[in-house]
Parts: sequence; C-alpha cells; structure tokens
Amino acid sequence: MRYAHRAESNYEYSNSTKESSDECYAAESMIPGVNTHPMTQIEPETSNLKKMSIITTTGLTKVYNADQVPVHALRGVDLTIDKGEFTSIVGPSGSGKTTLLNIIGGLDEPTEGKALIDNTDLTTLSDRKLINFRLHHIGFVFQAYNLIPVLTALENVSFIMQMQGRSSRECREKSIDLLKEVGLEDKINKRPSELSGGQQQRVAVARALASKPAFVLADEPTANLDSVSTAELLDMMLELNEREEMTFVFSTHDQRVIDRARRVVTLVDGKIDTDEKR
Ligand SMILES: Nc1ncnc2c1ncn2[C@@H]1O[C@H](COP(=O)(O)OP(=O)(O)OP(=O)(O)O)[C@@H](O)[C@H]1O
Ligand SMILES: [Mg+2]
Repeated sequence: MRYAHRAESNYEYSNSTKESSDECYAAESMIPGVNTHPMTQIEPETSNLKKMSIITTTGLTKVYNADQVPVHALRGVDLTIDKGEFTSIVGPSGSGKTTLLNIIGGLDEPTEGKALIDNTDLTTLSDRKLINFRLHHIGFVFQAYNLIPVLTALENVSFIMQMQGRSSRECREKSIDLLKEVGLEDKINKRPSELSGGQQQRVAVARALASKPAFVLADEPTANLDSVSTAELLDMMLELNEREEMTFVFSTHDQRVIDRARRVVTLVDGKIDTDEKR
C-alpha cells in the first residue's frame, strides 16, 4: 500500500548500538484511527525513534522573469520540516511565502536548489509523475477555498479519492468521515454557495486530508475568514495535528494563526530571517 510505504519513510530507527541501521518502521498513527505497530506505541520521550524530515529545501532560489527584469523571490532558502510540525511561514508582502509553498507543493520549480519531499527530489520528476506525487503526498488549502461550485461538499471531498482510483463506496464513506471530523456532518449535500466562508474552508481542509497526504500546505487559509471562523478552523487543524500528527505548513499574515503556531519561520526578501520554535 503506497500510503503505508510512505509512512514508513517518516521514521528511522536509531540508537547508540545500532546507529547504522537502515530499518524503518511504519508510523501508522498517520492513518486516522490506526495505530497498531508496536514501535508507534512507545512514548516519544522515552523511545529511540527519531523523527525524520518530511520537507527539506536546500539553497532554494527562485528568479522570475530572468530574461527581462529579474525578480529574486527566493534567495537560498534552507528549511527542514519534520512530521507533526504546525509551522507558519510569515513575512512582509512579497517576501516569498507563496513562492516557497508553491515549490514545496510541486506547483512551481526552483531556479536553483532542491526541494525534497519524503526523500523525493521534486525537480527530478516528470510532469506526469509530479502530478501523481502531489495527488498522493500533498494536501492543499488555498485562501480562496477553490472548491468546485457545482459539486456538493461530499463530492468535493470524494473527488480527490476518485482520482486516486478508490472505489465509490470507499470514497463516500471516507468523505463522510472526514466531513464529520471537520464538523460538517449536516452539510454534506450542500454546494459551496450554500456554505459560509468558514464552512467552505473546512470542506477544503477535509478535501486536503482525503488523499491521506504526508502534509498539508495552506496559503493564507484564514485571510477571508471572520474571527469566529478562524478560531474554529485553527482549533480543528490543531486537533488534527495533535491527534493524527498531521503536519501543517501555513503562509499567513494573520496574528491569530501566528500566535498558535508551534514554529514561526520569517522570510524577508526571499531569505529566512528568523526561525522560532515554541
Ligand atoms: N509569477 C510571477 N511572476 C513574476 N513575479 C512573481 C510571480 N509570482 C511572484 N512574483 C514576485 O515574487 C516575489 C515574491 O512573491 P510571493 O507571492 O511569493 O510573496 P508573498 O510573500 O507570498 O506575498 P504576499 O504576502 O503578498 O502573499 C514578489 O516580488 C512577487 O511580485
Ligand atoms: Mg502570498
């Protein structure tokens, strides 16, 4: 199973007597409701499981319009994000936040440098493989929700799973479970126009989780939300982060999001200025 295989790559076994072991163990806690592997039941503080990075960028550089008036959007970003992090990328407008998320998400290519996702260098993948990789590894939440207007909440969430080739029954059951998880069990048959902004963004989070991604990227997810919807969305994502160890990486200007992030990476002029873990 591709998902379990990917989960295996997120942990490595290491201790003083077996430092060189390549053996990996499944982190099945990533799969909602499943935590059967004996290694995953050991308390993190006392275990010899070392978390491995999900995202690693090295020397990431992005120059737009290189042959006209070049815009240096990223100027050598080295960033590592581990499984289970809840990280905000912040910084002034134009500092490169969206560019960084787009490259990490395989939606754009760096001019120089590398972006490794689950140990795969995205720049080496053909277009077709990249689309498939994104489908299976990365969940996206956008500022403008980007739901398909003619589809119901249930159909919007099912859509990603159908693209993955899962059975109609599984798509329906999992979509209902996910919509319950985001508190929308009574809205499954509503179309986006019948939902509030906060509810649409919660459908977008459910959709992002539908592919069982390694992590969720969210570009200014609360920018169009009022304070109550923002608080509800954050509560829900923090709960998913704590319970499922789902990794979230946001770009945001929203102080309410920044206040609740566990790590805040500040970009200035396309470079990391500060990196604060809380
Ligand atoms: N497709 C593009 N073509 C040319 N320049 C671009 C393109 N996308 C972004 N830029 C430029 O790259 C720089 C970084 O943009 P980016 O969108 O990553 O910033 P940001 O930090 O997300 O800003 P904001 O907070 O306003 O969303 C800016 O100077 C921007 O104008
Ligand atoms: Mg942006």
